[in-house]
Amino acid sequence: IPGHPQPRPREITLPEIRAVLGDCRRCPLGETRTHIVFGEGSPNARVMVIGEAPGKNEDLTGEPFVGAAGKKLDALLEVAGLRRPDIYIANVLKCRPPGNRDPRPEEIEACSPFLREQIRSIWPDVLVTLGNFSTRFVLKTDQGITSLRGRFHQAGHFLVLPVFHPAAAIYDRTKQASLEADFAMLGAWLAEHPDLRF
Ligand code: URA
Repeated sequence: IPGHPQPRPREITLPEIRAVLGDCRRCPLGETRTHIVFGEGSPNARVMVIGEAPGKNEDLTGEPFVGAAGKKLDALLEVAGLRRPDIYIANVLKCRPPGNRDPRPEEIEACSPFLREQIRSIWPDVLVTLGNFSTRFVLKTDQGITSLRGRFHQAGHFLVLPVFHPAAAIYDRTKQASLEADFAMLGAWLAEHPDLRF
């Protein structure tokens, strides 16, 4: 499924956002990371996938979702008829929390303006939020992923599809089945709305 035939007129491009981020030291994760994981994919994507934070492999390579969760994500994208180059992937935090601990509120506050600008630059039709942290950030809710997943929500201009984090499904067959159902629903929605332009 290709991106939008014409990019929307942008106020800011992804390389410009990356340049402002620079060699970021806006929070203490700047001292412990190896690489900033900015995000990757099509600047015209209809689907933007938002994860939590880089893990070990992502920190080492600078690329999002290159470890076990990334393999799982690739299989789920295939269920929706999508491939990595079709979409854009970014995380709420751009640096790895030590030992993969949960993001802290002050880290999210320091980092999330960059995610917000990425969303505005790409202007996707659908934001797929993986797990609690990205879902809460996008939907501004305290509700958990279990009650929110599996249906579309609206956040400003964007449709939001919250799903379980693929890492949580690696040893949980019930979550795996939910993820497959949710990505199948995403694929069906994209096919039914081939050129939705907000
Ligand atoms: N998990 C995430 O949430 N993001 C990544 O980039 C990798 C694993």
